[in-house]
Amino acid sequence: MSDLSQYPNFLDLLKAGSQGDRSTFLEELENTLQAAEGNNDRALAALIEETLRTEEGGKVEDKTDSSNKLDAFNKTLKSVKDIPIGLVMTKTNVHMDHVILPEEVKEIINAFIEEQEHNEKYISKGLDPRNKCMLIGPPGNGKTALSKAIANRMGCPFYFVRYDQLISQKAGETSKRLFAIFDFVKTHRCILFFDEMDAIGKDRGDENEGGEMKRVVSTLLVQLDDIPPHVIILGATNHPGMIDKAVWRRFAVRVNLPNPETVEYEQYLHMAFERYGHKPERDLEILAYRLEAENFAEAEVFVEDCIRRWIRADEKISIDEAIDLAIDGWAKTREKLPT
Ligand SMILES: Nc1ncnc2c1ncn2[C@@H]1O[C@H](COP(=O)(O)OP(=O)(O)O)[C@@H](O)[C@H]1O
Ligand SMILES: [Mg+2]
Repeated sequence: MSDLSQYPNFLDLLKAGSQGDRSTFLEELENTLQAAEGNNDRALAALIEETLRTEEGGKVEDKTDSSNKLDAFNKTLKSVKDIPIGLVMTKTNVHMDHVILPEEVKEIINAFIEEQEHNEKYISKGLDPRNKCMLIGPPGNGKTALSKAIANRMGCPFYFVRYDQLISQKAGETSKRLFAIFDFVKTHRCILFFDEMDAIGKDRGDENEGGEMKRVVSTLLVQLDDIPPHVIILGATNHPGMIDKAVWRRFAVRVNLPNPETVEYEQYLHMAFERYGHKPERDLEILAYRLEAENFAEAEVFVEDCIRRWIRADEKISIDEAIDLAIDGWAKTREKLPT
């Protein structure tokens, strides 16, 4: 039996339940679940998970047998006419090798892709390959680029959620569109990408959010539970704290893409110049250090500036001379955001 003193919010949970305050109740249930997991109370955690599943809209029990699941992995898109509003099918040519990742992130992402690519191994042993991954980190360090690279590697359709098209002022319309998006993606093997996921999976406890956002999040939760393993869901966020806890919990795989260190900038510079067919003579570690870039995106701007200067000089200067010119201009053009 659980020790109630380890669950300080238990009273709030009971209160919300008896007062019929559903959203607070669900939130407190989530908090209690986290506490139960923290206290290693498996029995209580399992009980709450079960309650949450039914509370969050009734998860349809997955009765698909493994042969149907395996078939689903091979299903391709029949026609591109039916892409629902709010989705854009995107072609990507970002290569995995061109995204510099910390070793541990590389490992996690490779394992995630492996499960998907060799899904039959997992399904035959009764496990669904994991299919939801959240990419977290400050802007400009490759969340979007990595998503595109995963799509490129998997070679299946990549759908980008467009919030400007998805979100409607009409009551209930956004949920309806979200529902249609999930209905569509479930029909074939593909990747669904929610960039800046905090825009839609906002914390339901946020007092600034009205009932409409709560409804959207509820739809999202039900759909995330219901999504079959042949559909990959990628989310990216720069504000993990703003994401609804229940949405967060659905993403079993989470990776952090931090701001790079000098050694990663060096690696980036080397790779980026090489992609344009250049091999600077200078020590790229020193260049990486001098740049004082804030993220990879900034380093990318610098490399492109060097290449532009080299082109502008009609290739009459060396790449190292172009780099020198770019460094001179660099400090002057790098206006920082006020902090
Ligand atoms: N880890 C990285 N490795 C290589 N290039 C990167 C990396 N992160 C960012 N870039 C480059 O910077 C640009 C912006 O990155 P992006 O993926 O949009 O960042 P985010 O989505 O995290 O804000 C991309 O065009 C990409 O080429
Ligand atoms: Mg991005």
